[in-house]
Amino acid sequence: MNILDVPVIKDFIRMCNDGWELGYHERNGGNLTYRMRPEEVALCKDAFTYDKPWVKMGVQAENLKNEYFIATGSGKFFRNVILAPQDNICIVEINDAGDSWRIVWGLEKGGVPTSEFPSHFMNHSVRVKATDGAYRVIYHAHTPSLIALTYVLPLTNRDFSRVLWQSATECPVVFPGGVGVVPWMVPGGADIALATSKLMEEFDAAVWAHHGLFCSGPDFDITFGLMHTIEKAADIYVRALSCGQGIRQTISDDNLRAIAKDFGVQLREEFLD
Ligand code: 13P
Ligand code: ZN
Repeated sequence: MNILDVPVIKDFIRMCNDGWELGYHERNGGNLTYRMRPEEVALCKDAFTYDKPWVKMGVQAENLKNEYFIATGSGKFFRNVILAPQDNICIVEINDAGDSWRIVWGLEKGGVPTSEFPSHFMNHSVRVKATDGAYRVIYHAHTPSLIALTYVLPLTNRDFSRVLWQSATECPVVFPGGVGVVPWMVPGGADIALATSKLMEEFDAAVWAHHGLFCSGPDFDITFGLMHTIEKAADIYVRALSCGQGIRQTISDDNLRAIAKDFGVQLREEFLD
């Protein structure tokens, strides 16, 4: 099978394009990684080469040794992924020590995996541990309304979680654990990777102040759906504020508790009054 016909590669490409179409990925903004299942690696293996050098990441994870990830390329544009996947995405293998990657497929015109690979890698590591291996996707996007809120709301997990829960009735059902917030930090390095992965021990989503959002999930649909739901809630809040009269009424904490009860989810109680 041609690697571009392998279902997981097609699904990865589709998600990149969905994000582009929703306006989350100006220029090279945002990045996506997926931890492959052994059977998916087997379907792609004929296209792999093992002649590229190992590159150290500056972070390490015991539980990701020898894994394979599909990743967007650093500086590559999401809008081009669908046109030439082989030049804009890649598959990397992780070494025996769990501290380096090497490209085994893709980025045929040169390049490296996303500069946020250390953050993705550490987030994968904590989500794999927290979900017993169920989580496979880490997605970073430059979601405009959520970024706007990082200029006007206090940068706390509680404030962001409450505003987002209150902004659309489905939100407490989609992310009952709320969202974490990372203060502004220099992107691309080990420090922001460690700060984000610390939050990902508890949250499926982490806001990066004045930058964007990281979401995690078991598959492309759930992870993209989480990004979309959070950004839409942020957009509703921005629109409500834009009417210029402040927030007159909202979903009360008892309303939130009632939704949680009926839908059988556990809301993070410390975020409620
Ligand atoms: P990359 O092009 O290296 O993926 O970086 C984009 C980005 O969003 C950085 O946070
Ligand atoms: Zn970014």
